[in-house]
Amino acid sequence: MFMKAVFFKKSGGLDVFQYGELPTPKPQMGEALVRVRAAGLNRLDVWLREDKENTRNILMPHISGSDAAGVIEEINGESSLKVGQEVVLNPAIPCGICLRCKKGELCELVKIFGVKNQGSYAEYITAPISQFYPKPQNISFAEAAAFPLTFLTAWHMLVGRANLQKGETVFVWGASGGLGSSAIQVAKYLGAKVIAAAKSKEDAKQIREIGADEIVIYTEGNVESAIKNLTSDLGVDVVFESVGEKTWSTTLAMLRPFGRVVIAGTTSGDMGTQDLSDIYVRQLSIFGARMGTKEEFEKVLELVAAEKLKPIIDKTFSLKDAVEAQKRMVEGKHLGKIVLEIL
Ligand SMILES: NC(=O)c1ccc[n+]([C@@H]2O[C@H](COP(=O)([O-])OP(=O)(O)OC[C@H]3O[C@@H](n4cnc5c(N)ncnc54)[C@H](OP(=O)(O)O)[C@@H]3O)[C@@H](O)[C@H]2O)c1
Ligand SMILES: [Zn+2]
Repeated sequence: MFMKAVFFKKSGGLDVFQYGELPTPKPQMGEALVRVRAAGLNRLDVWLREDKENTRNILMPHISGSDAAGVIEEINGESSLKVGQEVVLNPAIPCGICLRCKKGELCELVKIFGVKNQGSYAEYITAPISQFYPKPQNISFAEAAAFPLTFLTAWHMLVGRANLQKGETVFVWGASGGLGSSAIQVAKYLGAKVIAAAKSKEDAKQIREIGADEIVIYTEGNVESAIKNLTSDLGVDVVFESVGEKTWSTTLAMLRPFGRVVIAGTTSGDMGTQDLSDIYVRQLSIFGARMGTKEEFEKVLELVAAEKLKPIIDKTFSLKDAVEAQKRMVEGKHLGKIVLEIL
């Protein structure tokens, strides 16, 4: 049996993508086969495609896509889920055997669906049955594929790592992106004050609608002095980082003493510089974050079902237009999540 998929046989630019047929995966014992109805895009998909040296050892041909929602087609093993049920995938796959897993903490080797295995830019996927959850009925397949990876990570960053408290102030970089737009909502849910970065006035309006209390247009003027004005010279308690090289020195400068940075990405480059004395003189903390735990995923799912967190869809594309979809992300035209719909 064959299925339609978007894949690449070698890494490179957008032109390496092919739309064609690949064998339909077969569920191994303990796995389910799901007919994908929507696949959410993440920046990770771009990094995987561009991985010119293939340092991540991706098996070729590779199908990208970490977020998926669809319908169960086949179950190979025990499960409370049923064939025909609408489901959403938790893309963070723990090893299940490391010490941290045994303690119910975030797996030290947590795998991201769609990196070492075939992802969701396809008609079918297989994954361990325990990674699938009933799709909340009040959201569409596209919305269900638009929240898992980014809301899980944003929750883990702000709750699991930075321990953001009600009444604290957080600054969010990359607020137009999937991760940043999720972070605004998580921070508001926690009762924090949110200051978000926007590249333009048009973005600023939409970012406010997502929930940001204040906006700093980082392409106009000095971000550090804008933050001073907005915080009575104090600085912020937490900075939510995923941009990296271009923002790192400003990130540290805008923190108040005992402030925390939580970082999960380096979209603009990996090499940040900093005055190390800053860290101890002002007693700052830097937290790294990657994906999240099963419990964190379940919490996020519950809040999405309760409409306390809302997947923000920028635009949907059909599977065969995955190139256009990724182009939109690479060109930074999106606000929220780009999703492939697979009918
Ligand atoms: N560690 C993890 O588990 C994890 C999970 C999810 C994402 N991430 C990482 O977090 C980052 C964001 O992911 P995402 O899926 O939210 O991506 P995205 O939707 O493309 O968002 C990235 C945002 O960063 C901002 N940005 C600022 N400077 C930029 C630059 N020089 N180049 C590109 N973008 C720039 C843009 O927002 P503005 O235009 O509003 O500034 C853009 O919308 C990526 O690096 C990704 O790999 C990591
Ligand atoms: Zn583990």
